[in-house]
Amino acid sequence: MEDSGLIALVQGASRGIGLEFARQLAGRSDVGRIIASCRDPSSADMLRELEADAPVDVLAMDVEDEASIVTAARQTAARFSRIDLLINCAGLLHDSEGMGPERRLDQLEPSNLHRSFAVNAIGPALVVKHFRNLLQASKRAVVANISARVGSIADNRLGGWYAYRASKAAQNMLTRSMAIELGRGARPVTLISLHPGTVDTDLSRPFQRNVPEGNLFSTERAVGQLLSIIDGVTREDSGRFFAWDGSEIPW
Ligand SMILES: NC(=O)c1ccc[n+]([C@@H]2O[C@H](COP(=O)([O-])OP(=O)(O)OC[C@H]3O[C@@H](n4cnc5c(N)ncnc54)[C@H](OP(=O)(O)O)[C@@H]3O)[C@@H](O)[C@H]2O)c1
Repeated sequence: MEDSGLIALVQGASRGIGLEFARQLAGRSDVGRIIASCRDPSSADMLRELEADAPVDVLAMDVEDEASIVTAARQTAARFSRIDLLINCAGLLHDSEGMGPERRLDQLEPSNLHRSFAVNAIGPALVVKHFRNLLQASKRAVVANISARVGSIADNRLGGWYAYRASKAAQNMLTRSMAIELGRGARPVTLISLHPGTVDTDLSRPFQRNVPEGNLFSTERAVGQLLSIIDGVTREDSGRFFAWDGSEIPW
């Protein structure tokens, strides 16, 4: 068993914000090991490069496939006695087969709604379900679910983006319920939802034209900001939704 230093699991680490979380955690002296999961390690070249010269172990986990989450949790438990930090990062807004955010109701497609919910809401909750024993073995486990401001129902003034908004709102509710349940008992787990801001990744690329000057963050900046929030989180923050600058977002 490898136990010294913080043990972090970054779920959805093949690229974008998740890859940068793995990179920045790998550079910290208080972090012992980073388990970096992605659905296809054989094509995650940038993550493989990081694994070669950092305390990173790449793990296969597809959040749309519960059996793969169960296998990943078993493999992790065979090597580690606990997880101190879980960052659920995988997310889906558009894909190469034409799925994209709806502007109008007549663009609503059941299959796109299903996939958005599977990746953005159900997947992160199943990861917590199957890694909960490892989280509860930590003295102070934190789960950060990467959400999005557009998942706030109270903040929805523009409409559109039905599947993404609804799936992030569902993720937020699952986070809140898990925070209540896992907050009980001798080894409480702290769960928060985080909005990273608009970040320069494949996910935001088609929509960056309308982002005001200075509001598009590099992954380095966004992850640095989110790690400051995670580092300062207390038990009282569990079940809350924070933006990149530490301000609270209404549900
Ligand atoms: N970028 C932004 O402006 C922004 C704003 C608000 C919130 N967010 C949220 O931040 C998170 C990270 O987004 P990003 O910008 O880094 O996006 P990204 O660059 O498009 O990366 C998405 C990640 O999710 C993974 N993924 C997709 N489906 C998966 C599945 N079934 N199982 C496991 N992994 C899967 C992808 O893996 P593959 O490489 O295998 O496809 C990839 O690593 C998401 O939750 C997103 O909603 C982003």
